[in-house]
This record gives sequence, C-alpha cells and structure tokens, in this order.
Amino acid sequence: MCEAGPRGRMLEVEDLYTEFKIDQGIVHAVNGISYAVDEREIVGMVGESGCGKTVSQLSVMQLIRRPGRIAGGKVWFEGVNLLEYRPNSPEMRAIRGGKISMIFQEPMTSLNPTLTIGRQITESLELHLGMNKKEARARAIELLDQVGIPSAASRLDDYPHQFSGGMRQRVMIAIGVACEPKMVIADEPTTALDCTTQAQLLELMLATIDRCQGALVLVTHNLGVVARYAQRLYIMYAGKIVEEGRCRDIFYRPSHPYTIGLLNSVPRLDEAKGKRLVPIWGTPPNLIDPPARCAFYPRCPERTERCRVEPWPELKPVEGEGHLVRCYMREGGRGA
Ligand SMILES: Nc1ncnc2c1ncn2[C@@H]1O[C@H](COP(=O)(O)OP(=O)(O)O)[C@@H](O)[C@H]1O
Ligand SMILES: [Mg+2]
Repeated sequence: MCEAGPRGRMLEVEDLYTEFKIDQGIVHAVNGISYAVDEREIVGMVGESGCGKTVSQLSVMQLIRRPGRIAGGKVWFEGVNLLEYRPNSPEMRAIRGGKISMIFQEPMTSLNPTLTIGRQITESLELHLGMNKKEARARAIELLDQVGIPSAASRLDDYPHQFSGGMRQRVMIAIGVACEPKMVIADEPTTALDCTTQAQLLELMLATIDRCQGALVLVTHNLGVVARYAQRLYIMYAGKIVEEGRCRDIFYRPSHPYTIGLLNSVPRLDEAKGKRLVPIWGTPPNLIDPPARCAFYPRCPERTERCRVEPWPELKPVEGEGHLVRCYMREGGRGA
C-alpha cells in the first residue's frame, strides 16, 4: 500500500499486563508489552500459538472476561487512555466496531448464527454511523459487493450457515470495515482457509482497509504471511515482545534466536525451493509462575550461562531503525 502525507501515531500500548487466575495459579498471558501503530500503517504481531497475541488484542478492545483481568498498563488511542473507560461504557462501545474493529480467527463463532448477514452489517451502520434502515441496507449491499459476494443484494437476507467458510470470512471483512474504522485488528483472519484462498482474502482485506484509510494490526503465527504486507513487526514470545523493527530488517537481519527459528520454520519467497524447513525444537513455556530468566532459554540454540542466571534482558537497539531485541547475545551490536 502506498500513500502520501505524514502519518501520526494512532495507537500506543504501554507496558500492558493481562493475567488469568485459574486453579493452578496465575497465567501471565501478556507480560508487559509496549507497541505502537501509526495511521494507515500495517503492523504485524507474530509468534507461536499461546504466546499472548490474541489476549493482547482483546485487552486493547477491553474484551477480556473472567477469570482474566488487565493488571496494568495504558492503551493510548487518539490521546485517551482507553483503559480508563469501563469495558461496557458508552465510550468503549463507540470505540469497538466504530473506531477500532476486530476480525476474528473464527468466523463461525464470531458471526451471530441467528441474525441474517444483512442485519449484522446494518446494525453496526445504524449504531455507529447513525444511518437509517434504507441507507444501511444499501451500504451493506455495496460492502458485500466490494468483498466479492456474488449477487450481494439477494444474499442479504441469508443466514451465516448458508455461506461457505471463505464467504463467511469475506462477510467478516465487510463487517470489519463497515464503519470505516481508524484501525482494524485482524487476528489470524485466514488461518482456517487453504493457501490460495488465504492469499486472495488477505489481498482483499488490505485493499478494503486501504480504501477506508485505516491502519491494520495483522496477528499471525506465520512470519511468511506478514512479511509480505507489514511495514513493521513485533515478535512475541511468552507474553513479551522479543524483537521489533521494520519488516525488512527483521526479515533480512533477524536478531533474536526465536525470530531466527521462526524464519527457518516457514517457506521464504527469496530462497531456493526445496530448502529444508526446520521447526523450532520444543514447545512454548507454561505461563504460570514463569522463571525470571528469558523464557526462550530452554529452547535457545545460542544460550549461555548468563541467560540462565540473569533476568530476562530489556529490549536493546541493534542495526536498523527502531530495531530492538531482547537478548544478551546481541548486546553492544549485532552478534557481539
Ligand atoms: N480464558 C482463559 N483462561 C485461562 N488462560 C487463558 C485464557 N485465554 C488465554 N489464556 C492463556 O493465555 C495465553 C495466551 O493466549 P493467546 O493470547 O490466546 O495466545 P495466541 O493468540 O498467541 O495463540 C495462553 O497460555 C492461554 O492458555
Ligand atoms: Mg490467538
């Protein structure tokens, strides 16, 4: 996507903590993350399953339910800390679906099975944009048409179960951009679909968001997918950001051993076909009572004694604008 003009900061998440109190203890799902999204920017949030991507996004929207709670931090959006609003306040409801919308992982569960597709779109147009029924209906047809639903007008009164998986995901995109949000959060929006459909839908989603000049946070476990679209990336592990920076710096000069592992485990367009993909050995850690040291330590091919005994290091700059990494092995410049 290309556009002219300077971009302002849109969202700034500051030292966010979210935890779940369960019988076995407290799950530290999001453990002090900070990140930012500029106007019309595409930001990727990447990490293996269970590292806190979804919980961090739900926290921004104040959609965390018991036994979870946001234990600390700030979410600045247009100069206001959203966490000062109660989750069900009118202000927060105006933000959700109006200024920030979320396209979820699971279209089957996030579409309401008892409402027609048309109603699910017009409802939010009436609520957030104050359209009357007729205007909203006309706009809903236009939106479904834009996301490639054939004979949109005649499908408005169908229910979600009458649509295929790919078509439902298109509907989710239409709902996600219906109110021309400032920011769309897409959480693994295409993971359930086959590769070709995934690529088509991502392109469609980007074009649709571009049309309404929104920013996008693209959440995925697949570094290969975001690398094609995002301008900046945040790599998450065990509830923390372990590396961040411009997409090209991370892609061509990955610094954290975890990022390097992620890159080696996905196909890359710039490398010869037939290259062996190496999955990262082991599994992500338990987030109940994690040790103070780097959570990647047990899986890290570069670990040293220092990593074992010292607490998880801070994010420190490495080569590349805004390129930061949380690793003792990279202190004092790359590979030092
Ligand atoms: N409702 C919940 N109750 C208890 N633990 C939860 C709940 N939701 C998420 N978690 C835990 O929080 C951590 C982060 O989850 P999540 O954000 O969904 O990961 P990701 O989206 O990166 O796959 C995981 O360890 C998960 O088990
Ligand atoms: Mg998730």
